[in-house]
Amino acid sequence: MENFTFTRGDFPSDFLFGCATSSYQIEGHGFGGAGPTHWDSFAATPGNVVRAENGDLACDHYHRYEEDLDLAAAAGFDAYRFSTSWARVLPEGTGTPNAEGLDFYDRLSDAMLERGLKPCATLYHWELPQALADQGGWRNREIGNWFAEFTEVIMGRIGDRMYSVAPINEPWCVGWLSHFLGHHAPGLRDIRATARAMHHVLLAHGRAIEVMRGLGMSNLGAVFNFEWAQPVDDSAQSLVAAETYDAIYNRFFLGGVFKGAYPEPVLKGLEPHLPKGWQDDFKTITQPVDWCGLNYYTRKVIGADAGPWPHYAELDGPLPKTQMGWEIYPEGLYQFLTRTQAEYTGDLPLIVTENGMANPDVIRDGTVSDPARIAYVDAHLAQARKAIAEGVPLKGYFLWSLLDNYEWALGYEKRFGLIHVDFDTLARTPKASYHALKTALSHS
Ligand code: FCB
Repeated sequence: MENFTFTRGDFPSDFLFGCATSSYQIEGHGFGGAGPTHWDSFAATPGNVVRAENGDLACDHYHRYEEDLDLAAAAGFDAYRFSTSWARVLPEGTGTPNAEGLDFYDRLSDAMLERGLKPCATLYHWELPQALADQGGWRNREIGNWFAEFTEVIMGRIGDRMYSVAPINEPWCVGWLSHFLGHHAPGLRDIRATARAMHHVLLAHGRAIEVMRGLGMSNLGAVFNFEWAQPVDDSAQSLVAAETYDAIYNRFFLGGVFKGAYPEPVLKGLEPHLPKGWQDDFKTITQPVDWCGLNYYTRKVIGADAGPWPHYAELDGPLPKTQMGWEIYPEGLYQFLTRTQAEYTGDLPLIVTENGMANPDVIRDGTVSDPARIAYVDAHLAQARKAIAEGVPLKGYFLWSLLDNYEWALGYEKRFGLIHVDFDTLARTPKASYHALKTALSHS
């Protein structure tokens, strides 16, 4: 596919188009006075990350942010979703701030505004300061207070210029992926650690919202990730398995924030491991937010598994897949938008805070042809339009990602960018999808 089938005019006039990145994936963490993070030690442990790659240099956005923001603005984006590195701001996690780190986010914020890009911050996108990981990280209830301190320091400096802020990117990844599956730092596979991390991540979310309200900030939200759970067949066991997957992945965090309750199928496995008095924390966790962000990429085909709880298995699905091996299932975006509104958020604005695809993109004669990415984004935006037409208050769409970057445990191999990055020279080359999007966004 060469061109998008939509233009800006097909969306409501106040609809925001943006692109998203995160600090550890693009900045380069090896300089500027940043403290070590649990991603550095995770990556240094053989077997965790492809080629043991880390975020030391990444895209060197720390030094090239002006060029990168120029490209984002030139594409016609209205907004830029970025994250702030806790360890760059507070190298020890708490205590003395790193002036150079605060100065960087100060310059970055101004640079967005100068280019007409609305700054949309995420406080935490996964690189926990090592000093806090050493004290148990997300397993330690104190993380609520540590995170509140970080929120106060960073937003005390740049909060006056933020268009929107969400405390934590994708609680499921922080909790389940990193403490049960062990695929992300700190790489644990422990049910008790998982229960605590999943609860504390919401406690920290609530504390950060309280702090930012105290600073007089508004337009505060939460960003969750979703995967549609497709039962492999109609059997009762498969339906229960898919329901459990759905509850752990999609309903636990929404339930905590918007209902002050965790879903039964999750409590079945995790309740014995939750910290004492966990119900009392819902006062903090349910602090009202102003919008809800959805990150959506794929679905999973789920069947029953005879092993221990959660009694399900992820199966290979029949749909075409991206470079990540993820099935392409645009209908899931529509399903989540409508279901989230109907069951959790009502009139609250929804934002697609991430969507996009990895592709093995290569440069030929100075250009990068990525028709699959154009088709992927086009199909998902069609589902977004369908939801809007049915009255879902969807207010924006952020593409993941502006640049090819450090794709966590998969290193630099998986390319999600609208802009190709040569990781030897760090040269940036806008792909065909970038040019096509620029055309679509410039037409009303
Ligand atoms: C999301 C993450 C983001 C990136 C994309 C592909 O889960 O938020 O950092 O890795 O997936």
